[in-house]
Amino acid sequence: MKIERTPPSADELANMYQIAGWIDDPNPDKMLKSVNSGSEWFVARDLDEIIVGIGRLITDYVRYGFIIDVIVKEEHRKKGVATSIMQAVIAECRRLDLDSVNLWPSEGKMPFYEGLGFYSLPATQPHMKLRPEN
Ligand SMILES: CC(C)(COP(=O)(O)OP(=O)(O)OC[C@H]1O[C@@H](n2cnc3c(N)ncnc32)[C@H](O)[C@@H]1OP(=O)(O)O)[C@@H](O)C(=O)NCCC(=O)NCCS
Repeated sequence: MKIERTPPSADELANMYQIAGWIDDPNPDKMLKSVNSGSEWFVARDLDEIIVGIGRLITDYVRYGFIIDVIVKEEHRKKGVATSIMQAVIAECRRLDLDSVNLWPSEGKMPFYEGLGFYSLPATQPHMKLRPEN
């Protein structure tokens, strides 16, 4: 397994979102726009170049880093793939000397991220999301 710094294809990203259960029917045009946006990608591939997992860093290269889209294919889980992806992301955040590196764990994933050095903010500083229109 190796971790590449090139984006996944639009189809690969769509497939990973479906695997995670985050988007049922991804729009191909939006997927293409997303992979070509200004993200730093971390893509784990096996020796046959088949994608096994992804992670993504969105950053201003100075103050903020936001880690999103950490997804590993089900058949490759519990083997340390996400840990390797996260270690590569964290190393890049440290290399960039970012002031604030953030993520939003899925339910039950806090211990996984705590093991990688993340801590939870107090309940007085919750994550907030903009409601959809209507
Ligand atoms: C969350 C997710 C990315 C983890 O991927 P993963 O590759 O299984 O993660 P790892 O293998 O690095 O670590 C997972 C667990 O397996 C354990 N593990 C790692 N290697 C192992 C091995 N060889 N044998 C047994 N267990 C192992 C790790 O210690 C870790 O335990 P913990 O969760 O108690 O901390 C994956 O479950 C996933 O894609 N979920 C759906 C999408 C999602 O929710 N993403 C998170 C968004 S915040």
